[in-house]
Amino acid sequence: MNPQLAQTFQSLFSATPLIAFAPGRINLIGEHTDYQEGFVFPAAVDFGIYIGIQKNSQKLCRLYSMDFDQEYSFELDYISPKKGHWATYVMGMCALLQQSGYKLEGFDLLIGGNIPVGSGLSSSAALSVAIGTAISGLFELGIPKKNIALYAQKAEHLFAGVNCGIMDPYTSSFGAEGKALLLDCRTNTHQEVSVDLQEFSLILANSKVKHSLADSAYNKRREACEESVRILQAHFPGIKTLRDIPESDLVKVESLIPNYLFPKAKHVITECKRVLEAAHALSIGDLATFGKLLNDSHQSLSKDYEVSCAELDFLAEKAQCLDFVLGSRMMGGGFGGCTINLVKTSELESFKTILSEGYEKTFQKSPDFIPVKLSRGAALL
Ligand code: GLA
Repeated sequence: MNPQLAQTFQSLFSATPLIAFAPGRINLIGEHTDYQEGFVFPAAVDFGIYIGIQKNSQKLCRLYSMDFDQEYSFELDYISPKKGHWATYVMGMCALLQQSGYKLEGFDLLIGGNIPVGSGLSSSAALSVAIGTAISGLFELGIPKKNIALYAQKAEHLFAGVNCGIMDPYTSSFGAEGKALLLDCRTNTHQEVSVDLQEFSLILANSKVKHSLADSAYNKRREACEESVRILQAHFPGIKTLRDIPESDLVKVESLIPNYLFPKAKHVITECKRVLEAAHALSIGDLATFGKLLNDSHQSLSKDYEVSCAELDFLAEKAQCLDFVLGSRMMGGGFGGCTINLVKTSELESFKTILSEGYEKTFQKSPDFIPVKLSRGAALL
């Protein structure tokens, strides 16, 4: 990707670019907890977004997307991000950086990458983090990694309309080789946990159902949590989010909030606990317990939080029945995208065959399988 990106940059803009990379992410466990300041357990992967960038001594920023095979230009003094356009992320990040007082000048920028869009691997967070890393490097701004992640999150809120949490851009910024990040989304700090899967491997099964988080469902789930918190605050003094409520208080919670809110609150409360248990299990090499927690997480996301779909349920349930699979669950925002599976390495081929056959029969399409390697976070190359 690197030489190809540099070559394309050279032919488009007649200059040698500075190159930045930001990875996509997987999430081992801890779904829909980040925006309730809970715990998540993600990791960066070895594919993502590459950005080539160079100053152009103009007022104009000239952009090119290799994926879309399209160009776009804008002036730094007149930024008007258009929702749904790939260039929005570049304009959004520039607008936020300028508002924070960073001085930018015109640049040429090329976007490439090898991350499957819409598979739930957070290509848009990787894009924003790659842009932030590239601009910070080009103008020697020294923007801290955490701030790049926060700008990327804000860009998603303001310019894409998704009120997402911090997990995706944070992981893209801070990923580390062979490690998962036990991230506390209240303090925005993490602990690296070494991941030794012994004779098992992580593999994603892509349902190829395109999810659109901008679809109001994601924001609605977030609002449901906030509504529960508002009601519960009268009875649990001092709580700020659902993260503050221990699982042992679930019965009390159930008696206080309306029926339609309870399963949503229950998911967040129980999922936060599962994350801590899963990180502990993994750190002591107890893969069986870790796998069981993945299965429990799926059940909770599907039945209580209602962010799964028929295809994801099929893939997770089929996988969970196989004796060489320790755990399987839907991953990411939901409504499509991938499942994450912990599978005995020697049985990976049978895993793919069994899942593909069943899936094709039921949904008349075949899933894609994506092996993942836990990798480092964003950097200039
Ligand atoms: C999306 C969001 C994240 C997180 C997950 C669900 O990936 O961008 O902030 O909420 O969904 O865990």
